Amino acid sequence: MATATFRVWRGDGGGGKYVDYRTEAGEGMVVLDAMHQIQAQQAPDMAIRWNCKAGKCGSCSAEINGMPRLMCMTRLNQLNLSEPVTVEPMKAFPPVKDLVTDVSWNFRVKQKIKRFRPRPADAPDGTHRMQQMDVDRVQEFRKCIECFLCQDTCHVLRDHHKHDEFIGPRFLVYTAALEMHPLDTEDRLPELRQAASIGYCNIGKCCTKVCPEEIHITDNAIIPLKERVADRYYDPLRMFLRVHQPKKTV
Ligand code: SF4
Ligand code: SF4
Ligand code: FES
Repeated sequence: MATATFRVWRGDGGGGKYVDYRTEAGEGMVVLDAMHQIQAQQAPDMAIRWNCKAGKCGSCSAEINGMPRLMCMTRLNQLNLSEPVTVEPMKAFPPVKDLVTDVSWNFRVKQKIKRFRPRPADAPDGTHRMQQMDVDRVQEFRKCIECFLCQDTCHVLRDHHKHDEFIGPRFLVYTAALEMHPLDTEDRLPELRQAASIGYCNIGKCCTKVCPEEIHITDNAIIPLKERVADRYYDPLRMFLRVHQPKKTV
């Protein structure tokens, strides 16, 4: 059986180094299999996060040869095994140990986004009426597995560390799913403009390229949200009306 070298980052928040492991590379194997093989045979203390091994739990996110990818969905035959394959943790989040990062920041961001607020029922029996096309538009966003690979690749978080100011592509998708929901009545545009800092996004589409669920993050979520913010806050007619409309009296 063929063998391959995996250059795996080993360490924790205090620092670390790359360690080479040579292991068998059998037909049909994915990178997660190779990591498990190394763990079983050579490095029992190596930390790896995973769950489903089917590309659906979003747990096994890592960087493989510098690209944010799911380890369980990256087949060895997609890689050049004549050279060492680098496997390291996501860089946008603090390392915990080896390939495991602390992604809890994402869940704190999610908690701050205004929840779904449906309009009153459209019929006496409590049901609502919706256009199928409005329902279909948000379905794509619901495929997200919260792997956070898009967050990892986004330069605003990865290189500029704007975690306090920018919610990142995953939560722009989440916000879009709520904002475009046909029943939702909440207004999240002030937060998108201020606290979520949608303006930091330069729509370079790096997030879209790494999404394992092939969600059109930039075209279908971020750009429509940017347009809504621009229409509200930067449309010259709206700005004129905001300045000149009579103040409400109590
Ligand atoms: S398109 Fe925007 S959100 Fe996506 S990676 Fe680029 S800057 Fe980040
Ligand atoms: S939008 Fe795609 S890349 Fe981002 S967290 Fe969801 S599934 Fe992962
Ligand atoms: S182990 Fe679940 S997505 Fe990879």
